[in-house]
Order: sequence, then structure tokens, then C-alpha cells
Amino acid sequence: MDLYEYQARDLFEEYGVPVLPGIVADTPEEVRAAAEKLGGVVVVKAQVKTGGRGKAGGVKVAKNADEAEEAAKAILGLDIKGHVVKRVMVAGGARIAQEFYFSVLLDRANRSYLSLTSVEGGMEIEQLAVEKPEALARIEVNANEGITLEKAREIAAAANFPAELVDKVAEVFVKLYAVYTGEDATLVEVNPLVLTEEGDVIALDGKVSLDENAGFRHPKHELLEDKDAADPLEAKAKALDLNYVKLDGEVGIIGNGAGLVMSTLDVVAYAGENHGGVKPANFLDIGGGASAEVMANGLGIILGDPQVKSVFVNVFGGITACDQVAKGIVGALAELGDTANKPIVVRLDGNNVEEGRRILDEANHPLVTQMPTMDDGADKAAELANAA
Ligand SMILES: Nc1ncnc2c1ncn2[C@@H]1O[C@H](COP(=O)(O)OP(=O)(O)OP(=O)(O)O)[C@@H](O)[C@H]1O
Ligand SMILES: [Mg+2]
Repeated sequence: MDLYEYQARDLFEEYGVPVLPGIVADTPEEVRAAAEKLGGVVVVKAQVKTGGRGKAGGVKVAKNADEAEEAAKAILGLDIKGHVVKRVMVAGGARIAQEFYFSVLLDRANRSYLSLTSVEGGMEIEQLAVEKPEALARIEVNANEGITLEKAREIAAAANFPAELVDKVAEVFVKLYAVYTGEDATLVEVNPLVLTEEGDVIALDGKVSLDENAGFRHPKHELLEDKDAADPLEAKAKALDLNYVKLDGEVGIIGNGAGLVMSTLDVVAYAGENHGGVKPANFLDIGGGASAEVMANGLGIILGDPQVKSVFVNVFGGITACDQVAKGIVGALAELGDTANKPIVVRLDGNNVEEGRRILDEANHPLVTQMPTMDDGADKAAELANAA
């Protein structure tokens, strides 16, 4: 789960990371009030979960409350890369002497943590990594050792911070790492981390991604969820404990095991090229124990997606044998009754496949077509979606 900048700011403050005051506001009047409360120069900042807000006109400096109100009028409602701004943060204005970059993240490929740091902040980091890779210090962080003050100094030195700044920024790195581990984050990024004219080091922007799998350790994280922005089908699936991700296409997908489902998405997208360009409508992994109930819940979610024109159930029987899966499908269709109204292509293979196919043949449900292989099933499902 990605956080808004103001949520990251609040977390930073809890951990003692130096930040400027920030007040969220949803209307120009609230922005004016916030600017009056803060006094002096403020910065009105769009709160959207995407980067490049500055360049898109979503970050504006205001010298007084009048200007802040005007800035809010320009920013609220702005479309930034498909994200419409509904809320802004009014932040205290910093007198920036220098902008830096710092992040710590989960480095999946190396099964470790990685810190990326640069004295050339402000610039988009992806661009920096390509154009000036030597300006980006990549330092592996051992998860057992973490970022101690000593490690933080090593990072600052590797990033070429001037000697007189090393201790100052190192202290901030240690605190940002405390946010990273303390909140079970997968990313803590500050761009820019600034040195002010007054000589203070301050986090002016914050991007934090939390690991939802660790949510059980953090009851407070639920409050950070953006319930309005969540896709309604995804929210419903989450309430049913299903691993579901909504996509843009027309072929609903159900499979068991994340790897098989991912390959199914590829195969369906490939097959779709011969059938009017139809694409997968979702990711749904019903996991190992695909009971009739789980199957019914999954089918229910997928059939509730108005974009879905056909469904492809692709199951490889392992611990759960195919006959159990077939019973699940038959039971689910009985449970769903008339709400099941789109063609369903089923490909079963693996443990006890003959019995599974026999059960489906015997049920002879008018919506169900069986296909012997994954490629055939994907092709059939794409064809049916295109014909609908
Ligand atoms: N509180 C502040 N006081 C002064 N300047 C600020 C403040 N917040 C942001 N800025 C300036 O605006 C720039 C963009 O802000 P920020 O980094 O928060 O937005 P962003 O979405 O990352 O935008 P971009 O991708 O364009 O950098 C910063 O690099 C900084 O120069
Ligand atoms: Mg930024």
C-alpha cells in the first residue's frame, strides 16, 4: 500500500525525522485557513499517489494566504497522470540551499535491502540513474544489521556528501530506516531531502510503501487505507479474503497458484491477439484448497465485473485434486444460479484429472466448455469474449 505524502510526513514526524509543518485541506477556504495558521511562505501540494507533481503544476509556492487560496483553486481538480487532485497539503515553506535524494527499499532480486542516495536530488531519480549513474550511491543494507549511525555515515560518504554534512544527514538516514523497519515498509523515499539556508536537514517530500502482508502487526495501518479510491471489486474481494487484482480486459481469470495465474494472464493476452485484442480482466488466485465456496466467491466477483465477457478457469490439481475442483465449479454454478451468465471455459489437469473432467461432463452445464490444454482454453476463452 502506497501512502500519500501527508501520511508519510506524519509517520516521519512520529519517528523524529525532521519535517516541516503540514496541514491537509480539501477546499480553497480550508487552504486559506491553513496558510493563515502556518503564517509566512507556504507551499500548496497536490496529494496524489504519483510522482512528477511539481512538473504538472501540482506544487505551488504561496507568499501569503491569498496566494495560497489561488494556488488551491488551480491545484484542486487538476488531473496529474490520471489522478484527480481532491486534497492538498499546505506545508511550511523551506528556504532551500541544496536538494538531495535518499531511499531505502526492499531489493527483491538480491534478497536484501538497498539504500539509494545522491547529493543530486530534485531531479527524477529514474532519470538520474540512467543519465548519471555515478551520482547515485547504491549501498546494500544487511537486514540483520540495519542502518546504524556508522552505516549511515558510510552511505553519506559513498554519495559524496561534503564532510561537514555527513553527521547531520547520517542521523536522518538512521531515523528514516527506523520508519522503514518500524512500519514494515518496502520503500521509504525522500526526494528532496534538503539542506536549508539555516543549515537544517529536512525531509520535504516523502514516499512510503507499506507491506500489506505485515498488516496484522500494524492495526493502525488500516486507518491509512484510502477506501474511496479502492476499486469496488477489489474491496469486495479483499473482504472475502481473495487474491484479486482488477485489470482492464474482457476475459475473467481464475487459477490456483500465483505462478500459474500469472502465466495464464500471458497466454490469454497472447491468444487475444487473434481475437480482436481481448485481454485478461483480472488476476485471481484461489490458492490450494479451492472449495466450492472459494470458487463461488471468485466466480461471483468476476461475473460481477461488467467488463468481463467470458471466464477462463485454469486449474492444475495438486494437493487439491481435480475432482474436488470440479465439484467446486459445479457447486459454485448451482449457488450462483442466474447470476452466472457468461461462458466459462475450464481447463483441468493434474491430480485426478479424469474424475474431474467426468464430473463436469456429467453436470453438463450449458455455460461450461472444457478444453484439454492451457493454450486451447485461453484461445477458446478469448474467442468467446470477442464474440460476445
Ligand atoms: N515545503 C517546501 N518548501 C519549499 N519548496 C518545496 C517544498 N516542498 C516542495 N518544494 C519544492 O518543490 C519541488 C517538488 O516537490 P515534491 O518533491 O514534493 O513533489 P514531486 O511530486 O516529487 O514533484 P517532482 O517530481 O516534480 O519533484 C521540490 O523539489 C522542492 O524544490
Ligand atoms: Mg519529490
